[in-house]
Amino acid sequence: MRIIHISDLHAGAWLKSASAYFDKRVVGATHFCMRRRNVHDWSLVAPAVQQIRTLAPDIVVCTGDLASVSQPCEFEQAREALAALAADQRFEFVYIPGNHDAYVHNSACNRALHETFRALNRNRWSLDDLPTSIDLGTVRFLIVNEACPTFLLSARGRVTTAAEAWLRNECEQPDVIEGRRRLVLVSHWPIADQHGRELTWLRRCGNNLFLRELLMSGRLSISLCGHIHTGFRRDEAGGGCEVCAGSLTSTGKFSVIDYNAIENKVSQRWLDVYGESTPLDPPLDVDGRVPAS
Ligand SMILES: [Fe+2]
Repeated sequence: MRIIHISDLHAGAWLKSASAYFDKRVVGATHFCMRRRNVHDWSLVAPAVQQIRTLAPDIVVCTGDLASVSQPCEFEQAREALAALAADQRFEFVYIPGNHDAYVHNSACNRALHETFRALNRNRWSLDDLPTSIDLGTVRFLIVNEACPTFLLSARGRVTTAAEAWLRNECEQPDVIEGRRRLVLVSHWPIADQHGRELTWLRRCGNNLFLRELLMSGRLSISLCGHIHTGFRRDEAGGGCEVCAGSLTSTGKFSVIDYNAIENKVSQRWLDVYGESTPLDPPLDVDGRVPAS
């Protein structure tokens, strides 16, 4: 099974409504203009989308932060840019929000996030339906929303108690314990950084330490996340691994995972957006129950 993973696109933060000047957006937009604008190159998105569609993925995952300050125009920009991935029926496409997508308590921003979530996820779910899952053969993708508006200068998220109970229950199923079903977590925040350390208090996801235990025990096979702009892969001693895709628009790279679910073997690499000649092996599609794309 081939999983392609993008994250942290950060569309341009232009304040187009008066209310934006009276909440956290004005700080975020200032930060964008002073720094992020020089770091994120939106022109990398189109060639990435084009290249991803040629790589025969079974599923494409976007782990959030499409926007910078949740403005409706940012979501519009992102929806348009990712439309070809959302429309391509040869593979699944999943998007979950990051903290920059749920930036403020503002009805227009909130509505834009909900509409974008629905559209990019092919009208399968509304944001309120999360957590939810999709199965590809013997692999179950656990899709969790950790993002909610928070206070100024905070980039925190939270796993709700309801989501925790749901995740624990998924991990305790006999098929998972006996290795007949593999679990892949799709969320925005890394469970830990590249070296296994907790993220700083202002940047971490609250109530997610139990996920580390589930990853270290191998109940979760893979955790796919974003939030940190430099991508990494961290292997846990117990068998699980975490892959942070990094920022597509700042690194010009996306992550490709060829996952042999039977052997629980993860082959992961980053591809350059413009690396059209990058040699890529055929997918390790040894799970016969995974439909061919
Ligand atoms: Fe983030």
